[in-house]
Amino acid sequence: MRTQVAIIGGGPSGLMLGRLLEQAGVDAVIIERKSPDYVLGRIRAGVLEQGTIDLLDAAGVGARMHEEGLIHTGVDLAFDGEMLNINFDKLIGKHVMVYGQTEVTRDLMAARQRTGSKTIYEADDVAIHDFDGAKPRVTFTKDGVSHTLECDVIAGCDGYHGVCRASVPENAVTTFERVYPFGWLGVLVEQPPVAEELIYAHHARGFALCSMRSNTRSRYYVQVPGDEDVKNWSDERFWDELRARINPATAEALKTGPSIEKSVAPLRSFVAEPLRFGSLFLAGDAAHIVPPTGAKGLNLAMSDVKALAEALIERFIEGSAAGVDSYSATVLQRIWKAERFSWWMTSLLHTFPETGNFGRRIQRAEFDYLGGSVAAQQSLAENYVGLP
Ligand code: FAD
Ligand code: DHB
Repeated sequence: MRTQVAIIGGGPSGLMLGRLLEQAGVDAVIIERKSPDYVLGRIRAGVLEQGTIDLLDAAGVGARMHEEGLIHTGVDLAFDGEMLNINFDKLIGKHVMVYGQTEVTRDLMAARQRTGSKTIYEADDVAIHDFDGAKPRVTFTKDGVSHTLECDVIAGCDGYHGVCRASVPENAVTTFERVYPFGWLGVLVEQPPVAEELIYAHHARGFALCSMRSNTRSRYYVQVPGDEDVKNWSDERFWDELRARINPATAEALKTGPSIEKSVAPLRSFVAEPLRFGSLFLAGDAAHIVPPTGAKGLNLAMSDVKALAEALIERFIEGSAAGVDSYSATVLQRIWKAERFSWWMTSLLHTFPETGNFGRRIQRAEFDYLGGSVAAQQSLAENYVGLP
């Protein structure tokens, strides 16, 4: 087997890259280690920036998002039950779209199926070879049979735990990391959302987030210790804890029900530098992780693959290496800005036992400053809806 671009990972990064390359006439094959249903079963992001909305449109997969997605013109922040609305529309004339990662993935998978593009699911023992040499290739087994995919370029879109970044020699890559001592316990429920806007709540008991997937399906999160076992959380315990962390009127209005998904996600900030190693390029969660508080992970992945697709199209269609040469430096600039915003949102909204009462007063002062400063609100708004 031979292709121009071997894409490792069929999550949102890999699927979008495949789509953009295919539109431009660049040949690509996706190799994914799980099944399509498994990929669709991972409940993750919910908020799309304008740049992501535009990219889905440009990729010709935005129709259902515009029909079913919810336009959000702001978010609510809460501090010990006190509410502050950040109105993006009034502050900077922009908005975001609530449309789940699962749906984005489904739409991209459907497009791939329509065009008959090659995706190899349930590939085992995926390994990448000679990306620093003349014959880059990917080996894997499928149904017990070994295969080799020869290629010009390998796109590492295989997430944080993938094989691509792990295959780079240690001395060729620098990593920057902060692991938070807590995670998010998330619950998906077939009930209307508790409020029109998302609510990001700081409380002495810990952070809580009220989010949604549609007008009939809601997504909620509470901060829990990093090593928390989801088995310790009955639905009832989750709802009690959520109610205790949000303001009383919202708690009163909360519609609960049996969870249809419940999981704990660890929180981490991580960046690898550089993102190119010969003919291997990293994008999305393979390259960086943000704590989810700023709703940036999926959006950052989409802006990476937009840049990577443009660079590869330039190389394969126009014969210029300028784009691939500048890919790493270009995307890292945007990545670090999103890392900063996600770190800041995380620092403002979570409880950090180690920072004591001084830390809580600083968080309170930050919240009060936001409440009284249009400039501070504009800064939050322009970062949340996505920097250019
Ligand atoms: P992934 O989605 O991790 O996909 C990588 C794919 O590679 C997977 O399908 C995996 O099976 C496959 N793979 C791994 N190893 C191999 C291998 N060896 N061989 C072949 N395939 C392999 N982001 C936002 O923008 N907004 C949000 O509101 C938001 N909320 C979040 C909430 C939670 C609870 C979590 C956990 C994340 C959230 N994110 C959010 C982040 C977002 O989900 C990720 O940034 C996004 O999934 C990254 O996409 P990706 O394709 O790069 O990686
Ligand atoms: C969701 C996740 C986030 O990380 C976030 O900041 C907002 C919403 C969600 O899953 O709905």
